[in-house]
Amino acid sequence: MKPLKMFFVTLTTLFSLVTAEVVSASSIATDSHSFANVQDVRTTNLSIDLTVDFTRKQLSGFVEHDLEWLNPKATRFIVDTRALVVEQVKAMRKDGTWADVSYVLGITDAIKGQPLTMQLTPASTKVRIYYHTTAGTTGLQWLSVAQTTEKKQPFLFSQSQAIHARSWIPLQDSPAVRITYQAHIRTPKDLLAVMSADNSQNTARDGDYYFSMPQRVPTYLIALAVGDLHFKEMSQQTGVYAEKAWLDKAVYEFADTQKMIDVASKLYGEYHWGRYDLLILPSSFPFGGMENPRLSFITPTVITGDRSLVSLIAHELAHSWSGNLITNASWNDLWVNEGFTNFVENRLMREVYGNERADMEANLSYHELLRDMKGLAPADTALKVDLTGRDPDDAFSLVPYVKGQLFLSWLESKFGKVRFDEFMASYFGKHQFQSMDTEVFLKFLSEQLVNKYPGVVDPQQIEQWVYKPGIPVDAVISQSDAFVKVEQQLQLWLKQEQPLRRLNTSKWTVHEWLHFINQLPRDLTLEQLSELDEVFMFSGSRNAEIFVAWARLTIPVNYPPIFTPLRKFLMEVGRTKFVVPLYKELKANPEKSGWASAIYREARAGYHPLTQSQIDKFLF
Ligand code: BES
Ligand code: ZN
Repeated sequence: MKPLKMFFVTLTTLFSLVTAEVVSASSIATDSHSFANVQDVRTTNLSIDLTVDFTRKQLSGFVEHDLEWLNPKATRFIVDTRALVVEQVKAMRKDGTWADVSYVLGITDAIKGQPLTMQLTPASTKVRIYYHTTAGTTGLQWLSVAQTTEKKQPFLFSQSQAIHARSWIPLQDSPAVRITYQAHIRTPKDLLAVMSADNSQNTARDGDYYFSMPQRVPTYLIALAVGDLHFKEMSQQTGVYAEKAWLDKAVYEFADTQKMIDVASKLYGEYHWGRYDLLILPSSFPFGGMENPRLSFITPTVITGDRSLVSLIAHELAHSWSGNLITNASWNDLWVNEGFTNFVENRLMREVYGNERADMEANLSYHELLRDMKGLAPADTALKVDLTGRDPDDAFSLVPYVKGQLFLSWLESKFGKVRFDEFMASYFGKHQFQSMDTEVFLKFLSEQLVNKYPGVVDPQQIEQWVYKPGIPVDAVISQSDAFVKVEQQLQLWLKQEQPLRRLNTSKWTVHEWLHFINQLPRDLTLEQLSELDEVFMFSGSRNAEIFVAWARLTIPVNYPPIFTPLRKFLMEVGRTKFVVPLYKELKANPEKSGWASAIYREARAGYHPLTQSQIDKFLF
């Protein structure tokens, strides 16, 4: 009896061991937003060879994949594409010549695009896909001469995150795949091409450019921009690429970038990427910034002349650790990129500019989170989400950013700043150039902090932070003394104890002004709004954050003076974070929804495809 029972136990234990291993291997490899058969085969390197044709608004050429086969019996290599025309596929023979490969482009999935399935076996380790982009490409914006700042040359830029790299390069478009890449880009003469790779400052402007990214990066970090770009150095390691009109302004605005790098390297370990340059894009750039390695892409709407919005640079720089060095394994784990990055961003702002500014910024973003969460389904307020069957662009919110940051701040408050800094440094050191999912992070957290210092936090609290909706009651919200003073001044006016002109505002920074506008009651009369505008000139503010906060307050009450500058703003700026809420406010106002549609009809062609598709959903 006994031996038999033991035999069974051994068998079941063995069995569960085997299944456990299978489950964990496939759970890491499965990305519901990619068609790629990454369990069979992985791309290790891409050689990109493309010609930029501004007349046709088309990239054409080939991409060569170096393959590492994991499954010796595999018979196919599947990559992601969207709106691409595939012309031919070739595989390298043993003797170095190229043979045709049969392939099929599958049916289009509205979210994922089309799988390109190639008949290949592990005998082939180099494959070339010849292709060109089309008008349906979502990851590129082609700007006409008229849409640029200088109005002399056209402009092209890519935006690959989250799943748009596949719309300009056929590849395994999953953040769990890391590749090195080289590129040869041909452009019209006089234009400069830059990429998320080495950009040599003294390259001849001859329309023929070579790049190399020797570190392994996820595919959403492949980036290209082409335009009438010029370079100016900020420090030995940092500089700015921009159209001429922005160059000096940007160099002034972002002069503290080197300081930020130095602080970050001291806290979290070496900066691994060599140079760190900034590329200033045309104002239609759909984001604030994009952390393309070695070359962050930056909206010109943060160039205000007073360095008030440079936390964006701290943010994109922080991604050099959280995101680019350690990468979310799937888009369900986006908080592993953005929550960590918001946390690091604030940590850098604290070191470089002091506690007061860092506290104000953290407090402002907490209030933005609360506003954002009002429109979200409860399930979308968990840190770890399941986006199967959903477009990552549609599921975008501030939750992974700010709730992620709050989670890490809460841990920091529990374990102490010194220990938490050490923890973060060892996290970045131990997992560099790897992908990270929520569960692997939680395991590391348990080993390094939770179990090491028992009784400090309860594992159930961590479960709640990560998997449950809402903000836990003991979240640590940054309070700002400066904001308390702002509220006091506001009360003096609202209670008619002081006229506006006598309020003590002379030393206020942009952050205090933003708090002031956010705290204004929503039912002010037109007279009160006029008075505010007369004294503080919000409608004429050239700071986009202030202007948009003011516009969102004044649109619903039909405050007449806002509409002329608002029209101008909507025609010029395409940053989604600004224009989507503005169009939504307009649409919600029955007297202005027609006006909004008319402006959108005119402005739409100048917006990025991502911005267009977001606004198309509710306007038009
Ligand atoms: N990587 C993001 C932008 C992004 C996220 C693009 C997800 C596509 C999918 C970038 O670092 C970012 O977070 N930008 C923010 C910056 C802000 C929160 C400081 C932006 O664009 O506003
Ligand atoms: Zn980010």
